[in-house]
Amino acid sequence: MLADRDRVFTNLYGDHDWRLAGAQRRGDWEGTREVILKGRDWIVNEVKESGLRGRGGAGFPTGLKWSFMPKESDRPCYLVVNADESEPGTCKDRDILRNEPHKLLEGCVLAGAGMGCTAVYIYIRGEFYNEAQHLQTAIEESYAAGLIGKNACGSGYDVEVYLHRGAGAYICGEETALLESLEGKKGMPRLKPPFPAAVGLYGCPSTVNNVETIATAPAILKRGAAWFASIGRPRNTGTKIFCISGHVEQPCNVEEAMSIPLRELIERHAGGVRGGWDNLLSVIPGGSSTPCLPASTCDNVLMDFDSLVAEKSGLGTAAVIVMDKSTDIVRAIARLSQFYKHESCGQCTPCREGAGWVWRVMERMVAGNASVAEIDMLYEVTKEIEGHTICALADGAMWPVQGLIRHFRPEMERRIQEYRAAASRKAAE
Ligand SMILES: Cc1cc2nc3c(=O)[nH]c(=O)nc-3n(C[C@H](O)[C@H](O)[C@H](O)COP(=O)(O)O)c2cc1C
Repeated sequence: MLADRDRVFTNLYGDHDWRLAGAQRRGDWEGTREVILKGRDWIVNEVKESGLRGRGGAGFPTGLKWSFMPKESDRPCYLVVNADESEPGTCKDRDILRNEPHKLLEGCVLAGAGMGCTAVYIYIRGEFYNEAQHLQTAIEESYAAGLIGKNACGSGYDVEVYLHRGAGAYICGEETALLESLEGKKGMPRLKPPFPAAVGLYGCPSTVNNVETIATAPAILKRGAAWFASIGRPRNTGTKIFCISGHVEQPCNVEEAMSIPLRELIERHAGGVRGGWDNLLSVIPGGSSTPCLPASTCDNVLMDFDSLVAEKSGLGTAAVIVMDKSTDIVRAIARLSQFYKHESCGQCTPCREGAGWVWRVMERMVAGNASVAEIDMLYEVTKEIEGHTICALADGAMWPVQGLIRHFRPEMERRIQEYRAAASRKAAE
């Protein structure tokens, strides 16, 4: 269990003042200047040493990503903060934006200094209206206090911060679709390479990071890489905000140590599974695009990147969706297929055509109006679509279906047999 002294987000629940005065009382913006003065290389190395991996879903090592930014550039360099948070089940960045906006802004200044960025663009999901207002207020407070802008924190470093509101498309959370959208174009992912560190926003070197990733950076840089690395386990370090929803007694967001066992997470913080642990059917561990786990796996699995990959799932955004035995799991996954079909930008044929095809077959699986052989065909088609598109939306659309087939195939077959039996009874009448 995470000790209180190790908590990064001390106002996650909004119990205290989120404005500048309150944030400063909690230690935000303290010692920021001194960290900036330690220089670029020190900042990037410290984040590397901490083992911090991106909190936006893919888990890419943050310090390594920052080191890809050019040291010398004839173009300006940008940091882009991904506040588009749209993965179903995920609502952690929302609470940071609402209640810890200054932690994010301090992170923007430190990450920006570490990469030599002249400006930071924060792209916030359009539906986050109140959160955008909090953040805008915090930006204005920070400018007025000399914490951002020219000579930020009195360090000699100049950095501008801009807030940009999106218009409610899941795909705009994909980092290159986000860049397109920021530039005023349709949110469609770019082909890579070139990667954003070479050609990003407005053709300039850019790094895109998740809100939680950036908001965690000040604690690492002020308390030290060794402190962060001492939490969790190797390759899976630090604290993490988990979003626990679904069939639990008390759905919540909670900051915990990385690698906490899933069962402990649910029982300690969410009041346990509705009706008791034995009533558990399945858990989606990392947001809607990660494959579900059967109850038998949930007893022992650790909530971190490596442990969940070993179970053929993923930590993703750490949004834990709990389903008890009352759940129609085939229908639940079919509903996710519909979501992904709706959110496909339509640029790549396998995703545009395949996500809709998979959804339609899934609807037949819900009714049982299919043949058993089609379960194999469905699985094979998801494997053909995975990895064959410009961005990972299609992968995220296919993984839930693969998880369902892997763990709940007997339930799919049972429905098909039931449908057949009902059809032959009807024919005999
Ligand atoms: C379809 C799709 C949607 C995504 N949505 C988000 C999002 O809402 N927020 C986010 O931080 N990352 C999202 N990502 C991941 C980003 O592309 C990118 O990996 C991330 O912002 C990098 O930040 P990190 O290194 O700090 O994790 C999405 C990816 C895909 C493929």
